[in-house]
Amino acid sequence: MSESMYHESIDFLKPYIQTQPLIGIVLGTGLGGLVADIQIKHKIPYTSIPHFPVSTVESHQGYLLIGTLANKEVIVMQGRFHYYEGYSMEQVTYPIRIMALLGIQNLMISNAAGGLNPEFEIGELMLIHDHINLFPEHPLRGKNNPQWGPRFPDMSEPYAFNYIEIAEKFAHSANFKLHKGVYAGVQGPCLETRAEYKYLRTIGADAVGMSSIPENIVARHMGIKVFAVSVITDKCIPELLKVLSLEEVIAAAQKAEPNLRKLIHYMVSVLD
Ligand code: HPA
Repeated sequence: MSESMYHESIDFLKPYIQTQPLIGIVLGTGLGGLVADIQIKHKIPYTSIPHFPVSTVESHQGYLLIGTLANKEVIVMQGRFHYYEGYSMEQVTYPIRIMALLGIQNLMISNAAGGLNPEFEIGELMLIHDHINLFPEHPLRGKNNPQWGPRFPDMSEPYAFNYIEIAEKFAHSANFKLHKGVYAGVQGPCLETRAEYKYLRTIGADAVGMSSIPENIVARHMGIKVFAVSVITDKCIPELLKVLSLEEVIAAAQKAEPNLRKLIHYMVSVLD
């Protein structure tokens, strides 16, 4: 993708943006209901944005929403691009670059993930405080654009510590369970085998999913602060493993949605 492509996407979207700060939000599988809280001003199909990839997974709608949440202007990806769908890493992260170039300083990511930590139950939430990148390709591989960020981005704080602290206090006062853990990102699309779940747990992961890490890396490359939450949609304990359907993943995501909505609403209201 050439630099002029990015410019064409930005030129198309700029007229829709009114104010700053602009907060970017990525909605994961089954979490589209969050949009009910947003005063939507523009609902832009991905298909109409020059050079935007188009979503292929049934459970993901492809719209960029621009509106307000908690009196702040937000730009929301309703539907994300997964590496397993066949997109290149550049395509997967294209919308994140675009949101960054449009001026977001904060990115909130949600996803559905399998719970490796035996203390996690289906429908609970986990704040991501760190990750293990197991994708077979890195989104920053290749020539670096120094205007976007450094060649060797620092990853000592991939998820903003102060937001994690704020979120934990909020969950405590709002009386819902909010775990904190390490997210392992894998290519998919197969779910993992028992042996792979055992391996992932052994290397220190609390949850596993097929997204979010490429987005996080590109956002951090551009100096954007990231806040990310996983909805635990299934239990990945080797001894207890059962067959999992996409319907179950979506049902679990929907179960978690009220708390996730509260959390995202609150975080948007306090983000700087
Ligand atoms: N593995 C990978 N991705 C997932 C899972 C899982 O068990 N559950 C939801 N997304």
